[in-house]
Amino acid sequence: MENFDQIELDILNKLKNINDRSSLDLFKTEVFGKKGSITELFKKIVSLDQNKKKDYAAKLNELKQKVEKTIKTRFIEFDQVEINKKLKSEKIDVTLPGRAFFSGKIHPVSQVIDEVTSIFSEIGFSVEEGPDVENEYYNFSALNTPKNHPARDMHDTFYLDHSKELLLRTHTSPVQIRTMLNSKPPFKIIAPGRTYRCDSDQTHAPMFHQLEGLHIDKNINMGHLKGCLYYFVKKFFEIDKVKIRFRPSHFPFTEPSAEVDIGYRIQDGKIKIGEGDKWLEILGCGMVHPKVLKNVKVNPKEYQGYAFGVGIDRLAMLKYGINDLRAFFESDIRWLEFYGFDPLDVPTNYRGLSR
Ligand code: DAH
Repeated sequence: MENFDQIELDILNKLKNINDRSSLDLFKTEVFGKKGSITELFKKIVSLDQNKKKDYAAKLNELKQKVEKTIKTRFIEFDQVEINKKLKSEKIDVTLPGRAFFSGKIHPVSQVIDEVTSIFSEIGFSVEEGPDVENEYYNFSALNTPKNHPARDMHDTFYLDHSKELLLRTHTSPVQIRTMLNSKPPFKIIAPGRTYRCDSDQTHAPMFHQLEGLHIDKNINMGHLKGCLYYFVKKFFEIDKVKIRFRPSHFPFTEPSAEVDIGYRIQDGKIKIGEGDKWLEILGCGMVHPKVLKNVKVNPKEYQGYAFGVGIDRLAMLKYGINDLRAFFESDIRWLEFYGFDPLDVPTNYRGLSR
């Protein structure tokens, strides 16, 4: 009869030396598979003498159970090791503070452009755009600004070539010309955008922003211009009463021309717009010059209207109490954190943490 004790010892020794799950799988087949060592021992039973059968089968069954149990335990061990390994590498520390979410800020200039655009859209103005690099014709000639006009001077204008054909637009007024050449009257547009002049001090930057307005139709007069600007100033500065002064001025592309001042006073170190006895210039405007209309093939006898040009940066400085224009364009993130605006569509629970 087989030495079951020896067989058991051999099997258990082999099992001890197995170190991974797949080797254990293999070993299980070696023992219990179709041609496994224990399976073979079972096959022998039929050929045994009747008197030996019982004892043999009992011992074999006992061996089988022991080996099965040990193999099972080892499987559980390997699984446990695997789980522990996973737990360690995929550990989530729920006590860690959340990762900070920094939301961007909207630059005051972008904010003011949005505000101004929505104010004018409410009264029927649509938005037009023009290129920053303009040619001499749209920027000056078509706007009735002759060759010897001081605005054409090198000290004011960034020219891009020697022939002074290409330049960085000095105002948004060329968008008037482009718009009128592109379609037929009536026109009722605003054009916000970047403008450039050789200038730099506390209130002037070589790049700044303007908003152009143009309204051309039959029977448009200066009363319409006044009404439009009153409406705009009240809405923009969120005040009910406002003092506005139209001061006679000169622009080559308007006749008559005016500069518009708004009344203000200083209260507790802060500027109060709309009241008081001080005046602050905010824009230039006038009735579009007949020569400009002729240049864009609009009959001045049939159509006329007004135009205006506002400094957007100036508006932002006034409304939001910012006193150095140059800081607008220095891209200092701390400045933007302070003076910038939260995007409206950011849900409150996503508000960025402050730096
Ligand atoms: N383009 C002028 C400037 O930059 C501003 C201006 C004045 C625009 C009168 C106009 C206007 O449309 O009618 O100084």
